[in-house]
Amino acid sequence: MKNNLWISILFIMVFFLPLSVSAMDYQHTLQAKGLSFSWSLDGDKIHVSLTAETTGWVAIGFDPEKAMQGANIIIGAVKKGKFKIEDHYGDRKRGHSNDEKLGGTNDVLNPAGIEEDGVTTISFSFPLKSDDKYDKPIQTDGIMKIMLAHGAGKDSFRNRHPYRTIYEVNLSTGENKKLK
Ligand code: HEM
Repeated sequence: MKNNLWISILFIMVFFLPLSVSAMDYQHTLQAKGLSFSWSLDGDKIHVSLTAETTGWVAIGFDPEKAMQGANIIIGAVKKGKFKIEDHYGDRKRGHSNDEKLGGTNDVLNPAGIEEDGVTTISFSFPLKSDDKYDKPIQTDGIMKIMLAHGAGKDSFRNRHPYRTIYEVNLSTGENKKLK
């Protein structure tokens, strides 16, 4: 009896858990060119899924000020079946650094990622208001500027983006408008 239970648990882990990164239903989706951003608001958190036609990284940046400066960036990639998702901050107009290297904290929750047929999907949750000064509060009333970008080929987070865009998004209603 006990053995059967363990076999069932193993079956669920092997066959169903990898689906969690793509199968979760999200409340809203924003479709950009070759990159989609889906999200759900859930109490004091946002659940996010990013899918891009790339074998490189995919990223989102909340509330940039000048180019990439000031944005709360979450960036992730999948290499040889292993995902890496990091909490970054736009500490310059043309770049970003890991919050932990800047003296802040990693506030990414439930990270997951898969890469299949040249498409990378990452998912994670994030507090709407973390205690880290390198994370801006994520505004759920009114509009917020959101950057989306992906790399190409290599998974290195230092590689620049062949595609990047900026939208104004109302995270509560899903309404959005492309700015750049
Ligand atoms: C990997 C390291 C990165 C480098 C070296 C880099 C470099 C640059 C450079 C040189 C520009 C100005 C030229 C242009 O407009 O394309 C730029 C703009 C931009 N980047 Fe990045 N970037 C990086 C990562 C990211 C990430 C992770 C995001 C988003 C989540 C992002 C979003 C943007 C956006 C939206 C712009 C346009 C800003 C504007 O015109 O206001 N970048 N980046």
